[in-house]
Amino acid sequence: MPQTASRLNVFTESVIRGMSRLASRHAAINLAQGFPDFDPPEPLLAALEKAARGPFHQYAVTWGAPRFRQALATKIQSDTGLPVDPEQHLVVTCGSTEAMMVAMMTACNPGDRVIVFSPFYENYVADAILSGAEPIYVPLYPPDFRYDSAELAQAFESKPKAIIVCNPSNPTGKVFTRHELTEILALAEKHDAFVITDEPYEHIVYEPRYHVYTAALPGAFARTITCNSLSKTYSITGWRLGYVFAAPEIIAQARKVHDFLTVGAPAPLQEAAVAGLELPASYYVGLRDIYTSKRDIFLDYLRQTGLPFTEPQGAYYVLVDISALGFATDTEAAEWFIRELGVAGVPGSSFFRHPENRFLRFHFAKREETLRAAGERLLRIPDYLANPHRINPSRVL
Ligand SMILES: Cc1ncc(COP(=O)(O)O)c(C=O)c1O
Repeated sequence: MPQTASRLNVFTESVIRGMSRLASRHAAINLAQGFPDFDPPEPLLAALEKAARGPFHQYAVTWGAPRFRQALATKIQSDTGLPVDPEQHLVVTCGSTEAMMVAMMTACNPGDRVIVFSPFYENYVADAILSGAEPIYVPLYPPDFRYDSAELAQAFESKPKAIIVCNPSNPTGKVFTRHELTEILALAEKHDAFVITDEPYEHIVYEPRYHVYTAALPGAFARTITCNSLSKTYSITGWRLGYVFAAPEIIAQARKVHDFLTVGAPAPLQEAAVAGLELPASYYVGLRDIYTSKRDIFLDYLRQTGLPFTEPQGAYYVLVDISALGFATDTEAAEWFIRELGVAGVPGSSFFRHPENRFLRFHFAKREETLRAAGERLLRIPDYLANPHRINPSRVL
């Protein structure tokens, strides 16, 4: 049999999605893959029913249905203060996942370097490799996951073509400050690099933090490629709707990549999602409040377990330090959590460049009752901490 492409040997299948499958096999509460177990807002459901009976069952315009792009432009304009032309500044994609792949293939030639902060959302390294680029890593340091300015400046010395900024960040919950983004932008300007931002959690930011749109910083627009998504904001991860927002010259090229990758995002879902984009500003305040409450409930249980964890500033992930439980690897720990406690998380090592076995990542985008059920299960941890001999990691799942 012929050999498959060697670039695919450099990374594995998604660990996050793998843990999700394991969770369902063992009927564990899935706090691994970040998706809600509650419904999208009612106006979206009603619009979806209506769209099913409308003339939306064939390909939409490849770079996005006009009504959807117009609604998107209006929302982005109101969020960022930037003038947005739906004909020139947008490509609608299948989620931020495709948007990131499109951005990388648009920005990078084979052999180009791309700066990735570590820990990182696992897709970024796959995106870099699939687009022929080489990731170079700049560490973020716990507990608040700051980068070291000198290390970042040093990384830019290797003449990267782009830097990827996940803001708010998965898995760290870091929200980049205006100061940090300005510093990143200044370095990108100095070395003539693109800034590729991934912002699907733009509306899930906890007070007193707030989201700063990189593209809206002075002088940023010409080199910033913003990737974003409706998945998290409207609880519709299965609808696969996202977009790239950038300057017309970049979008003209990005449309080509998108066209040949997917042709287009699902037409009936673009039609229905307009109802989400047209929700009033109060919806986003409510969303932040709902997630603040979920965060508080989940963190309260974590505090009672006695395990240290990071307090997210944004997004809906927590890195829990499980080193006190004494597992040899975090994968062993993740499997034990599924089997013994019935709660699924993601081994933190899948997000780090360097070997790191300290963390499991859990998310809290779940109904209150699901979070409390998971929390109650986690409350068995203090007992194991007091009696570590009861932990048996060796049973195979
Ligand atoms: C940082 C980040 N980017 C992108 C995605 C994927 O989003 P989408 O559903 O829009 O493809 C996720 C999903 O968890 C994410 O956390």
